Amino acid sequence: MNLGNNERRMLKGMLSKPKATWTLDQILSVTGWDDQVHVAGAGKGLQEAGLVEVEESTSRLVTLGSEGKKAAEGGLLESRLWDWVRNQDKDQRNMGYLMSSGFDRSESGPGIGILKGLGVEIESGNLVFSNEEEISQEIARREDFIKLISDSSAESSTLDEGMISHFSSRSGLLEFEETITRTWKLTNTGSSVDESALIENQLIGELTPEMLQTDSWMGAEFKPFDVQAPAPTPTGGRRHPMQSLIERIRSVFLEMGFSEIDGDYVQSAGWNMDSLFIPQSHPARTMQDTFYLDQPSKVEVDDSYLDLWARVHEHGHDTGSRGWGGTFDKEESQKALLRTHTTVNTVRHIAENPSQPSRVFGIGRVFRQETIDRTHMPEFHQIEGIIHEPDANLPMLISTLKTFYAKMGYPDVRVRPAYFPYTEPSAEVDILWKGEWLELGGSGIFRPEVTEPLGTEWPVCAWGMGLERLAMLILGLDDIRQLYQPDLERLRKMPLL
Ligand code: PHE
Repeated sequence: MNLGNNERRMLKGMLSKPKATWTLDQILSVTGWDDQVHVAGAGKGLQEAGLVEVEESTSRLVTLGSEGKKAAEGGLLESRLWDWVRNQDKDQRNMGYLMSSGFDRSESGPGIGILKGLGVEIESGNLVFSNEEEISQEIARREDFIKLISDSSAESSTLDEGMISHFSSRSGLLEFEETITRTWKLTNTGSSVDESALIENQLIGELTPEMLQTDSWMGAEFKPFDVQAPAPTPTGGRRHPMQSLIERIRSVFLEMGFSEIDGDYVQSAGWNMDSLFIPQSHPARTMQDTFYLDQPSKVEVDDSYLDLWARVHEHGHDTGSRGWGGTFDKEESQKALLRTHTTVNTVRHIAENPSQPSRVFGIGRVFRQETIDRTHMPEFHQIEGIIHEPDANLPMLISTLKTFYAKMGYPDVRVRPAYFPYTEPSAEVDILWKGEWLELGGSGIFRPEVTEPLGTEWPVCAWGMGLERLAMLILGLDDIRQLYQPDLERLRKMPLL
């Protein structure tokens, strides 16, 4: 019989006991195998030979997703919202009051949508309803459902179908894991095979130099190598996807001839902003957007720079600019803050090497006062770089960014005119992703008001791009927070970069 060894062993095992159907564990025990891969492979071979029938049944295990886990701990959005609505005076059941009661925009909008689905209506801005009892019951049923799965994951066929279909339409609440269970059964032909014919051949898995020298390979039977055979996915240590992405970006810039620079998180407002000709009255400089520090509250800045920036900001010095006017505040300049962009590293690099041409980049963490939501975090990373040399120019800047993104796998890049206080011209950089243009960062040529006090007359191509945005595209995520949650299961499944 033209069967491989594994097929022979499995068939022999199945013939050894009169059993109508065999489960995986039973076959493992009768064959002595410890890996289900052998059973799947040999079972398939026997099936193709018409000796065995394979039956598959699929089951779906339901567990809570990240939002579901939150709901299990803190309550479903509708139930928190419903509690709030019922404790609120009738004329105060509206968006305004809702937002001031701790429901932010990311919750209030969708939350009201859910309540509407439950029969709540809006009349002159306020939420109204007539079927209070019914709504409460439905919400309680939903809470019970979440609680049930939170206690232990369950097979989907044992759960309320309506609830499953409801929660499946809401993002992140449920996760499904499909498992296929197989059973094997001998066909009539299979049962009539003569067991004594099923002797295992010595199969050769690896060709050695000795075999080639002795000609013993000539009559040998070789083990076929099945690249399609199901195999377990190895789970072991791996780099965090963000770390791999940073490594990849690093190697792309190094390959393009750039050197890497670094800098401190704590900086003076002077280097972070004044050196970049950001006016001291700029709204982004307020506490609302920037984390100023108490300890240290001050970072000394060299007097010579303070004097130069004061002159440039007040009247343009001899840069050809009229400056911003007003009086430059040197104390303001020495306030300590957490850097709000990595452009502070590149200007400092120029100040330290004013007459040395350079192409440098850095990937670093920056800090801004942002409310955390799907696309914002108070800490994120920027991919920053400059080309500082006598012939630096705009086409050079654009082609550098295009080359970079092409090497990262995004060949379609476009730039649009933009505004930054420190560059002229300025350009926003977009990449094409699934037919849509997505903005990834800013760039431009530093203004003379920036470069002159640094001690250089050469043009500087500069850019600062968001790292997390790019990571979300590459990893196919729609929520920035997923990049930093310590969810090993999800991290393990993210593609290798
Ligand atoms: N610093 C800018 C930002 O944080 C990006 C930028 C860098 C723009 C360099 C122009 C030149 O968005």
